Amino acid sequence: MDILRIPEEMRAWSRARARGGKTVGLVPTMGYFHEGHLSLMRRAAELCDAVVVSLFVNPTQFGPNEDLDRYPRDFERDMDLLRKEPVTAVFAPTPELMYPAGFQTEVRVQQLATHLCGKSRPVHFAGVATVVTKLFNIVLPEVAVFGEKDFQQLAIIRRLVADLDIPVRIVGHPIVREADGLAMSSRNANLDPANRAAALSLSTALQLARTEAARGVRATAELGRLLERHIHSFAGTAIDYVSFVDCDSLEAMATVDERTVLALAVHVEGRAGKVRLIDNGFVLPR
Ligand code: PAF
Repeated sequence: MDILRIPEEMRAWSRARARGGKTVGLVPTMGYFHEGHLSLMRRAAELCDAVVVSLFVNPTQFGPNEDLDRYPRDFERDMDLLRKEPVTAVFAPTPELMYPAGFQTEVRVQQLATHLCGKSRPVHFAGVATVVTKLFNIVLPEVAVFGEKDFQQLAIIRRLVADLDIPVRIVGHPIVREADGLAMSSRNANLDPANRAAALSLSTALQLARTEAARGVRATAELGRLLERHIHSFAGTAIDYVSFVDCDSLEAMATVDERTVLALAVHVEGRAGKVRLIDNGFVLPR
């Protein structure tokens, strides 16, 4: 497994693979790997000859009062995990290499970024869209695999490659959950084990919505009230949003149908401050 840090070297590495007739798949990450990340890498290996994992905690996608400093990091642990996976190369640049002095360009996906997480994290998706565009230009992948847990991010990246004619096939991969239903996330490392129940408020809310919708409750205002009560019944939770949205446009929906995704963001008391968790899923079977 090659470890590359310099963008030009990464691009030369990929070009050499392409000259040898190999396809390159990219899994963009911010590290602190869990089974969810590893499943993205395995999926990329099914689709491509060579798998590049980028590992970069991108500062521009964190707002001033967000958890950039607390975001979990452990490079050696991550490399040990990757060596057991079908990963051909890691691209791990520094912020200075990604954003050298004079950097001033931003990529913005306008409408999709105004919904859900975009409301409470106004700089987040421009940071994501910009760094993902850069990663595509540096790694030159044919395929990039993203987790469906970051459902809005995935919608934004699909729009971005379509709008800018970027020749990368975007593949979404299902959420991987702990045995108790908690969606895997690097941020789970910051949860307080004594307060784990609160973190389960999201996945249990998703189940509750599915149960109620199957019973015939389809008005999202009513479902939303039920879910808010459910989440608040867990100590130490603060809701950012409980939203029923169209799976493509991310516009709010008044009634649940086959296109409706329930998207949730909840702050949970963690070991050192609040941890913001997200989860999502279709409400009706597809
Ligand atoms: O999903 C993430 O880990 C990040 O948002 C991404 C796509 C690697 C961009 O920094």
